[in-house]
Amino acid sequence: MDIERLSTGVKELDRILGGGIPRGFLVAVAGEPGTGKTVLCIHFSWQGVLDGDKVIYVTTEESRESVIRQAETLGMRLGDAVARGKAIIIDALLGSDRWSLRSLNPEDMVEKVVEAKRELGYGRARLVIDSMSAFWLDKPAMARKYSYYLKKVLHKWDFTILATTQYAITTSEAFGFGLEHIADGIIRFRRVVRGGRLRRYLLVEKMRQTPHDLRMYEVVIEPGRGMRLVGPVEYRAEDFAMPRSVYSKIVEARRRVEEEVPDEGD
Ligand SMILES: Nc1ncnc2c1ncn2[C@@H]1O[C@H](COP(=O)(O)OP(=O)(O)O)[C@@H](O)[C@H]1O
Ligand SMILES: [Mg+2]
Repeated sequence: MDIERLSTGVKELDRILGGGIPRGFLVAVAGEPGTGKTVLCIHFSWQGVLDGDKVIYVTTEESRESVIRQAETLGMRLGDAVARGKAIIIDALLGSDRWSLRSLNPEDMVEKVVEAKRELGYGRARLVIDSMSAFWLDKPAMARKYSYYLKKVLHKWDFTILATTQYAITTSEAFGFGLEHIADGIIRFRRVVRGGRLRRYLLVEKMRQTPHDLRMYEVVIEPGRGMRLVGPVEYRAEDFAMPRSVYSKIVEARRRVEEEVPDEGD
């Protein structure tokens, strides 16, 4: 059986994913700040415009203008697409127009996304939520419940979803461990300073129904061109591991958080 896959807009990533992200999936994009999560979201959105998909982009940590400017520096005219009614960017940071969110409430967000989908019309759709963590900053224990709710409601609207999640630099752990449990896929970015230079890496940690590449790739971001993947690279586990004492504290914290929420989804 052939699975319909959506191109991510990054050629090498599509190849690693056996052609792209299966239609209807919710994929978590995880990683520390500055690792390329937003850049990937912009590629995914722009590819949607090129493919004639309905594109909706929820931005919580940057304004709509900032996302559009960022896209422009990478050679993608997302602003034009918005002006032509091909895409809607929902500004949850600074917006005050119709396509804005005044609170970071998951129900309001879903309602606005559905309104945007109605506006764009019938057909295959892409949704970016950058970032998902913003919706449970003050209540991390709700992360899994919210992720489950979101997936369930938005699935009916023919969305393929890319949702970013933050990792603290110190612990490399997710802020609220909900999304990864619910997601159909996990694309994990990492960073490391080696030889006095920042390097970024990407690993597909999970993609249901997909015999994906299990190796890590180096991420290169170029002006006017955007993201490329180089590799695969060879690394030892300890290059990315955290100290044992930190790790056990996190495991304990996670256990306590998860005791507080009902186990929904998988
Ligand atoms: N036009 C560009 N040319 C080269 N590198 C860029 C460009 N735009 C962004 N970058 C790189 O991408 C990084 C930002 O990545 P971003 O996707 O915003 O990170 P995250 O969303 O994971 O925090 C910047 O720190 C910079 O290194
Ligand atoms: Mg970002």
